[in-house]
Amino acid sequence: MIVLKLGGSVITDKSTPETVDEPALERAATALAAAREREVVVVHGAGSFGHRHAAAHGVTPTEGTHDPEALWEVHDAMRRLNDRVTGAFRAAGLAPAPVHPFSLCHRDAAGALTLPVGGIATTLAEGFVPVLHGDGVVHRDRGVTILSGDELVVRLARDLGADRVGLCSTVPGVLRDGEVIGRIDALSEVSDVLDGAEGVDVTGGMAGKVDSLLGLGAPGRVFGPDALEAFLDGEPVGTLVDGRED
Ligand code: IPE
Repeated sequence: MIVLKLGGSVITDKSTPETVDEPALERAATALAAAREREVVVVHGAGSFGHRHAAAHGVTPTEGTHDPEALWEVHDAMRRLNDRVTGAFRAAGLAPAPVHPFSLCHRDAAGALTLPVGGIATTLAEGFVPVLHGDGVVHRDRGVTILSGDELVVRLARDLGADRVGLCSTVPGVLRDGEVIGRIDALSEVSDVLDGAEGVDVTGGMAGKVDSLLGLGAPGRVFGPDALEAFLDGEPVGTLVDGRED
């Protein structure tokens, strides 16, 4: 079973508010429909949909809000993007099942996430493709905070026992001097290229992605949209991030 994240910047035009990159989304849907692997859980990011609303209300994974408008704007934008993604998947012949994390998850006061995966496992077993997304999440004592797609990917991979994890991003992998790094086994190997690289991304950046992939019990790959089909077919695309003991 594969857990795949489609980065928000892959499927939306990040420079224009709430704009889907239709050709890119269609390409991703076509690649998924053509894949031999039938068991795939998809998580998509926010891109030009959720981040703006979160930033406008000062909401992050740790800074919460009790403003009902903030909750609505973030969740509504992500739900509408999810409609577009599942719509494109249906048009490509897939059987997507929308799953809205806001309605499923919560965090305790320390920020620990509860994510029940029983329904998602059954959805997969019945031949559907669960499609989750970054979202707001109720957070004890803080109102609503942000739940990133990357955090969902890590939890789903662990709790559903994924064989492989893919983060499809706009870059072809983790880069050093413009070249894709083939394999990363520890964060210390790449601290030179990750340090402070994406300080503006409140939900993670590349350092956060690599760090969370290293903590998985499964190999993860970071790759670009052109490599999605090859990744789904099991080819060694992009950067392999594997923190498992040999
Ligand atoms: C962010 O999700 C969720 C919201 C801001 C509501 P991600 O962090 O996974 O989104 P991208 O992939 O960076 O756009």
